Amino acid sequence: MIQPYKHEPFTDFTIEENRQAYLKALETVEGYLGQDYDLVIDGERIATEDKIVSYNPSNKEEIIGRVSKANQELAEKAMQAAVEAFKTWRKTKPEVRADVLFKAAAIIRRRKHEFSALMTKEAGKPWREADADTAEGIDFLEYYGRQMLALKDGVPVQSRPNEFNRYDYIPLGVGIIISPWNFPFAIMAGTTVAAIVSGNTVLLKPASTTPIIAAKFVEVMEEAGLPKGVLNFVPGSGAEVGDYLVDHKDTRFISFTGSRDVGLRIFDRSSKVNKGQVWMKRLIAEMGGKDTIVVDSDADLELAAQSIVAGAFGFSGQKCSACSRAVIVEDVYDQVLNRAVELTNQLTVGDPTEQGTFMGPVNDNNAFKKITEYIEIGKGEGKLMTGGEGDNSKGYFIKPTIIADLSPTARIMQEEIFGPVVGFTKAKDFTEAIEIANNTEYGLTGAVITKNRAHQEQAREDFHVGNLYFNRSCTGAIVGYQPFGGFNMSGTDSKAGGPDYLLLHMQAKTTSEMY
Ligand code: SER
Repeated sequence: MIQPYKHEPFTDFTIEENRQAYLKALETVEGYLGQDYDLVIDGERIATEDKIVSYNPSNKEEIIGRVSKANQELAEKAMQAAVEAFKTWRKTKPEVRADVLFKAAAIIRRRKHEFSALMTKEAGKPWREADADTAEGIDFLEYYGRQMLALKDGVPVQSRPNEFNRYDYIPLGVGIIISPWNFPFAIMAGTTVAAIVSGNTVLLKPASTTPIIAAKFVEVMEEAGLPKGVLNFVPGSGAEVGDYLVDHKDTRFISFTGSRDVGLRIFDRSSKVNKGQVWMKRLIAEMGGKDTIVVDSDADLELAAQSIVAGAFGFSGQKCSACSRAVIVEDVYDQVLNRAVELTNQLTVGDPTEQGTFMGPVNDNNAFKKITEYIEIGKGEGKLMTGGEGDNSKGYFIKPTIIADLSPTARIMQEEIFGPVVGFTKAKDFTEAIEIANNTEYGLTGAVITKNRAHQEQAREDFHVGNLYFNRSCTGAIVGYQPFGGFNMSGTDSKAGGPDYLLLHMQAKTTSEMY
């Protein structure tokens, strides 16, 4: 019998055995740095001259690995493989498809720290963040496997006498999975396996700064028994391979996680019906956020400061769910701000391979440049309270930064920075705080710190975000517990880790038989 779903626990690194296991995993990963990884098309490994090189963002001299880079010709070959494999995979029993996911989860659980350690090196994730990323990936495998089993017999509908009606979900076809670097394992694996377990075949194009963890995942799926052609691995440039696949007439759906601008570009391109195409493509898009923590005057102010700091600076603020705005009712503003500055000053920034490091580097030089430019803008728009500096001599390090006394319409309060920068603004009362919280084009996460039950209910109705949290921070949704996805420019409100996520990868078919 399949055990009920429960999320994967986080590792307690104060336990010596776990600490040693992580250090050993870092050694394991260091033992295979710099290797080459091939494309995987129809189960065949294909090496190209042209490579994507993955560097360690904490130490830009260190190469994590090199992956072959697909061009349009190879992308076409992968598409044909996926079209062919769909003919049999769509008829493969849902139980068999789910079993592949369960076995993959078991393999990854055995190698859990290795996957996390690889993210510490490739993505600059501190231990705790990397461990949570691997746990979330395992959760997606376990949860979506079970969701498919729940959907396999469709949903009951009415039948009249002498009639038998059925309502079943069938897969869509070939999907293009374009995954992000910030959850290089969890979101990459989650978006891929949701499509696969639903009976689709896919082309996976991972983020160019974190392709090695994706290559390792593809190996695991093969080991778990996934037939060839179901998951094709095609790293490549967005302009060359991404656009080509998004436009392709055989693409049935696109599952994208990344920036608003790239998401809108895909939205636009995927809406065109190209020659030979006989459907309207479906787009599942998880885009940016400009997420707010609102602090009420009647609130636990220590909890407020801690929630803001944890939400703003966990994984260097590089989460679409990160707290990048704190909106505080004026009578407690100074107190919360000063305490947040104190807490921020205690954070450690540095090499994420060291256990105690709270914050590692940002993703790459582009991220470093963009974030430091925003910090300069912020210094002009508000008051720099702490941080405000970066150092990219060895890796891409930026100090956790608080900018206070901002206007709600300041650029720092409106534009997604995707780095360790949080802006503070004052509201005259709770109602105004919610109005300010809603004044962006995004609607992903938000949190409210309050002891006032009526205000909590007001926020439940009026704070327009896909994930609203009370008396906690706004990051760290758990698969199957807090389905995750946002409104407006945050995407298509596809709730990853939620009970209706797989349906986005399927279509419903009614059959009716007369007896
Ligand atoms: N799901 C993550 C979180 O909740 C972000 O992608 O933090």
